Formats: sequence, structure tokens, C-alpha cells
Amino acid sequence: MIEPLSHIRAMSPYALSQMNAPDGKTLMSLSQNESLRPPSPLAIAAATHALQNSALYPDPDWRDLRLALAQLHNIDADGIVCGNGSLDLIGNLARIYSGPARAALVPAHAYPFFKTASQMANARIDCAEETDATVSVDHLLGAVQPDTAIVFVANPGNPTGTRIPLSELQRLRAGLPHSVLLVIDEAYGEFADTLDERAFDFVESGNTVVLRTFSKAYGMAGFRVGWGLFPNGIATQLNKVMNPNNIAAASQAAAVAALSDQDYMHETCALTASLRQAVTRDLEGLGLRVYQSFTNFVLIDMGSVAAAEHMDRELQREGIFLRSQTGAGLAHCLRMTIGPQHILDASIAIVRELQGERQI
Ligand SMILES: Cc1ncc(COP(=O)(O)O)c(C=O)c1O
Repeated sequence: MIEPLSHIRAMSPYALSQMNAPDGKTLMSLSQNESLRPPSPLAIAAATHALQNSALYPDPDWRDLRLALAQLHNIDADGIVCGNGSLDLIGNLARIYSGPARAALVPAHAYPFFKTASQMANARIDCAEETDATVSVDHLLGAVQPDTAIVFVANPGNPTGTRIPLSELQRLRAGLPHSVLLVIDEAYGEFADTLDERAFDFVESGNTVVLRTFSKAYGMAGFRVGWGLFPNGIATQLNKVMNPNNIAAASQAAAVAALSDQDYMHETCALTASLRQAVTRDLEGLGLRVYQSFTNFVLIDMGSVAAAEHMDRELQREGIFLRSQTGAGLAHCLRMTIGPQHILDASIAIVRELQGERQI
């Protein structure tokens, strides 16, 4: 068989969650940070309507979607590029700007796809320590090498859920050499938008991009729509390498309609925040540490790797899947999506039982 390029042969596949409920158990997933609610009814209606035109290719330029995003966020429509999920944009940015002798730099507990994208580009990946599962600007700046080309920071972070304030992002941008591309991934940005800290304004300062997605607060992970705001020069390069017609017409229509239903999205964020607070209180009451989260998930410190593995196994026996964090350097933690209330309740009941047994 034909040999792959050696850096591709050396890669492991991106680890998606493996979910197989035992016989007789219903699968309950809290593992992929999906929304606790379906998309807005307006989005579903718009997608259904758009299906009638599925004989035609979708708009390759995402015009209606870009205009709607520009209006909502008060940003330049020409700087917006849309992806088949934000993964599409992350992969292409890595492909364009990193590679041999153009290294990527990520925080220690970064979103694992940043590494996968950098590996695909055959780029070295450097990691900067975090402080208590929170991005450290000092450590990132200290880890910059002469060949650092791109820095990926998710804010809020996944799997940590923590965030750094805009002033820290500003300090990071100011401290990085101007030639380094800073990618600020705001996949969970809508959950923190009430803090009124806009990273979009950094894009004007040069080599900085901000990514967002419809997969989380808009509850549209299955539609695969991500987008970003880019300086013109970067948008031009991206548009060269993106697959043409990358987002299905039904998905584009659904995204435009979802943007018109901001009340629904804000309700989702408010409901998520109130369940997140309740879950945090419950878990802390059971003696577990929960990192402060600005997202639709919580990172739970189980105290030890063995305890995390045991808890994960026991939950899986009941059909409940959280996400182990071995790949992100947090093997003593489990990540729990703030999913529907009945699944959260079932999970907390099992955690309570197991924690009770540990204390006997
Ligand atoms: C930080 C971060 N970035 C990007 C993504 C990918 O999102 P999308 O569904 O838009 O590809 C995720 C998904 O979990 C994420 O957590």
C-alpha cells in the first residue's frame, strides 16, 4: 500500500468520545458539550424550507450569513469567513500558517484539536504551563520561540471552562512578536458575552483572529457551522484553501434564522448557567472541586487519576458518559456537559453514591 507522509503516519486519530451504553441501559451523553436544548424552532423551519433547493450548490460565499453576523456583532462582513464547524477554520489556519520550522504554541490544557491541526501541518507543538487550569499569559509569552508562528488560545477554555479577562488577552497580543498569529477561539463565547468583553476589536490590531461556532449556545452542532473574524489578508488566504461550498444550504439558512432568534439563544445560556450553578453546588457539597466555568460544561477534579477512572467506569455502567481528560493533561479530572436536567440528576445521584462509599 502507498506510504503516507511520515508526519501523518506518526499521528493518532483525533479522539472523539466512545459511547456504547451497556445492554438494557439508555445512552446518556454529557461528553461532547452539546446544548441542552435543540436549535431554535426558527432555525429548524428555515433548514426544512431550504431543503427544497438541495439540487443546487449552497452559497460559496455565505453572503446572508456573513451579513447577519456583521449586523449582530457590529463587525465588518468582509472580514468574516465561515467554516464547516470551527474545526474547519482551525485546520486551515494551521495548514496556512504553521509547518516545519513554523511552530504552534498552546496552553498546557488546550483544546486537543489545536494539536491535531498542528500535527496535520507537520508543525512542532510547544506547550505553556497554565496556572490552576487557567491560561497564563506570562507562561505563554515565556514559551515563545524564534520559530513560533501561531498561538492558539480558547477563551473560555475547553476542557477547563476557565477564562482570562480581555486585559490579559491584550497583554498577550502586545507581548507576542507582531509576526505571530494569535487565534482566539471563542467557541463558548456566547456563554460569557454578558461580561461584555469583546475580543473582536483585537482583529484590527493585525495578526489576530477570533473564532466562534453555532455548535454550542445555538445548539446546532449537527449543522456544522463555524465562523471567524479575520484581518483581510488572512481572510484572503483562507478563502484560497477552504473547500468550496463547505456549508450545506440548509445549515446556512438555519444559522441565519438562529441569529434572528437571540432571545432563544440567551434563554439557553441562562438555563445552562442556572443548571451549572446547581450542579457545581451539588458536586462541591460532595467534597469535589469544580473549576469555575464560563461555558456549558464543568471540569471536576476527582482528586486522583484512579478516582477519576473509577467514577468514569461506574457512570458508564449506567449508560452515562462524561469525558475523561487524559489527553488534555488532566487525567485526575472528568468533564461534565451541562446537559438536560434528568441526565444531570441521574449523574449526580451516582456520584453521590460513589462519594458516599469512598467516605465510609
Ligand atoms: C474550544 C473549541 N473550539 C472548537 C470546537 C469545535 O466546534 P465546531 O463544532 O464548530 O467545529 C469545540 C468543540 O467542542 C471547542 O470546544
